[in-house]
Amino acid sequence: MYVELTKETGWVGAIDWNVRDFHGYETRRGSTYNAYLVQGEKSALIDTVKSRFADTLLANVGEVSDPDDIDYVVANHGEPDHSGALPEVLEATGATLITNEKALGTLEGYYDTSGWQVEFVGTGDTLDLGGSSLSFVQTPMVHWPDSMVTYCLETKILFSNDAFGQHLASSGRFDDETELPVVMDEAKTYYANIVMLYGRTIAKALEAVGDLEIEMIAPSHGIIWRSEIPTILGAYEDWVRCRPVAKVLVIYESMWRSTELMAREIVEGAMRDGVEVRLFDVTRAGRTALATEMLDAAAVAFGSPTLNMTMMPEIAGLLTYLKGLAPKHKAGLAFGSCGWAPAGQRELQERLEEMEIEVLREPLSAQWRPDNEVLGQCREAGRLLADYAENAAAEGHLCEP
Ligand code: FEO
Repeated sequence: MYVELTKETGWVGAIDWNVRDFHGYETRRGSTYNAYLVQGEKSALIDTVKSRFADTLLANVGEVSDPDDIDYVVANHGEPDHSGALPEVLEATGATLITNEKALGTLEGYYDTSGWQVEFVGTGDTLDLGGSSLSFVQTPMVHWPDSMVTYCLETKILFSNDAFGQHLASSGRFDDETELPVVMDEAKTYYANIVMLYGRTIAKALEAVGDLEIEMIAPSHGIIWRSEIPTILGAYEDWVRCRPVAKVLVIYESMWRSTELMAREIVEGAMRDGVEVRLFDVTRAGRTALATEMLDAAAVAFGSPTLNMTMMPEIAGLLTYLKGLAPKHKAGLAFGSCGWAPAGQRELQERLEEMEIEVLREPLSAQWRPDNEVLGQCREAGRLLADYAENAAAEGHLCEP
């Protein structure tokens, strides 16, 4: 289906209702791969879709134009969710590919590009379509080194590729046609799980496009922003600056419930007015949701018993995932039970240190079952976490973008 953004601009992408995994990210509400057609005297397609939706894209274009009439295809980023249909689209249209040198390098890694006509663009370059002009800003690491965004000078639409996206399949294409809390929840989940690692470069990208007058932000996933542009820009400002919320997370894996008992006492200690406390059994809460919780939580306790002289596997997997995403500006501690050696808790603490999480106290360990003394230490540890979270939120600790 072709969806009009302005009289010369339309959405021609694909809705992937059933995708539930995106390189390890649980896409619980599906996703979309957004491609856009801009028509002047000449026509340009901005990005494509996953390869298996190539026919959908060409059919959507066909509602308003013969695909043969497409003169240019802009590839803002080479990842296959946006470039998968590129070989078929270039074959069907005979269009010239507009991209940057790094992106062509990515595309050469995935496809046989030998017959393609390519023109390179970089920041500040403009493509004149006759009545519509596209300009380009390179935004490396949002999401790969090859990433760039495209801006239409006349309609003031920013085609932001991965930035400001959400994995959200919906019948509405715009922010005002879809429930805003759902959209913002997915925008936050997307930021945390896809680009949290690149906060510094996203801040630079925000600066680079900050002077543009923007009527719409048309990302490559999810809904198009037209009524809530200040809302999403404000949220990104908070996320790139790691603005903390007075929130304590207690995330654990347990074997015979001893670590769970400790976790529950930490929660008891942390609960107070003005501090949000959340308890998660890592075997039930998915890593995607936990990474999202980590984005703005000020303090976190990770718990695991010792198993085979290390921590348990689900919490280890979560920490590996989080280490890659590099949440910043947190404090935390490690806890858990053991039979004869607190190796799991020591290893947890080493992981916190590797992630540059400020460690608030030595690991809390209980042998077999936590006794009253250990449970008292857990409550005290909860108070420590809540104090930290309360202060961090009140003082507005921010990281340097
Ligand atoms: Fe949506 Fe980095 O691709």
